[in-house]
Amino acid sequence: MAAEDGRHLVVDSSVRSCLTWNYADDGSRLRGLYEKNKDSQWNASTQIDWDLPVGEVRSPDSRINSAVGSVPFRMEGSPVPDHMLARFRHEYRTWMISQFLHGEQGALVTTARLVEIVPELDAKLYAASQVADEARHVEAYARYLDEKLGASYPINHGLRQLLTELLSESRWDVVYLGMQVVVEGLALAAFRISNDMGDPLIDQITRAIARDEARHVSSGALVLSGLYDAMTEREIADREEFLIESMHLMSERFLLREVWEAMDVDVEAGIRYARTNETVVAYRQLLFIKVIQILRQVGLLTPRIYGYLDSARLIRPGLLRDAGGSPRVRG
Ligand SMILES: [Fe+2]
Ligand SMILES: [Fe+2]
Repeated sequence: MAAEDGRHLVVDSSVRSCLTWNYADDGSRLRGLYEKNKDSQWNASTQIDWDLPVGEVRSPDSRINSAVGSVPFRMEGSPVPDHMLARFRHEYRTWMISQFLHGEQGALVTTARLVEIVPELDAKLYAASQVADEARHVEAYARYLDEKLGASYPINHGLRQLLTELLSESRWDVVYLGMQVVVEGLALAAFRISNDMGDPLIDQITRAIARDEARHVSSGALVLSGLYDAMTEREIADREEFLIESMHLMSERFLLREVWEAMDVDVEAGIRYARTNETVVAYRQLLFIKVIQILRQVGLLTPRIYGYLDSARLIRPGLLRDAGGSPRVRG
């Protein structure tokens, strides 16, 4: 059950906490990643140059900037006025960084949960070190929004729904799929695409965070690899259902409803634009590449998942041909 009072989202759940008596270090790759995590800790208070001025506002992605000429507020037969473009860039950037922040808090809380519920020690140690990374990410984005932009957006509806589901979830691998694969895979791609927003401070923060996220995403793939080979058809079908729903929720975020609402333009026209404009479609496909790679790696890029990605236009035509294979067929 979940409740919201405007300041908190409260999710009740029943979890199965697990301790292990197997403390052996067998030199697994996950243990190696845990070592890297410890060596790569940084301090958001002292190692970010908070005195850098906030730069010229650009969109997080230049492709979106170039597509903006066809946004729904274009005047008939004339280019979009500069003040509208500037406003769109400001709103889009504030929205995007706000969603990064909410996603980071989601990662903080779900990863803390993973420490409890995942059965093996290496995964517990790794998740514990990730908790410290996520705390830093929350700290840095919250401070940037508060001190530098002085504005923020509430959590997007789809992200809130997914986080609520993940915090009610008792199957630990499903928490990994939702957080380490879908949410973090998308965030990692977004961080990489948006590492040149024209503002040296946010670029510095995002680069530092993206280095951590790359390890987090790899850890998810390591923990899950081999797991699905042993599952029944029914169990796999449950995972497929969960993945399709979470990817749908996350892709709908990029229709930018909240940005159109803030712009005071025709919201439905904005959503139609974001759904169908070829540049924006290509941007979403770029965001999903990492998620697709990991699903493939862990054996969950099943025909059903592939079919969903294809019909929702979240997979670039030819992506799998480029990667040298066809979607994995189970059984
Ligand atoms: Fe993070
Ligand atoms: Fe992360």
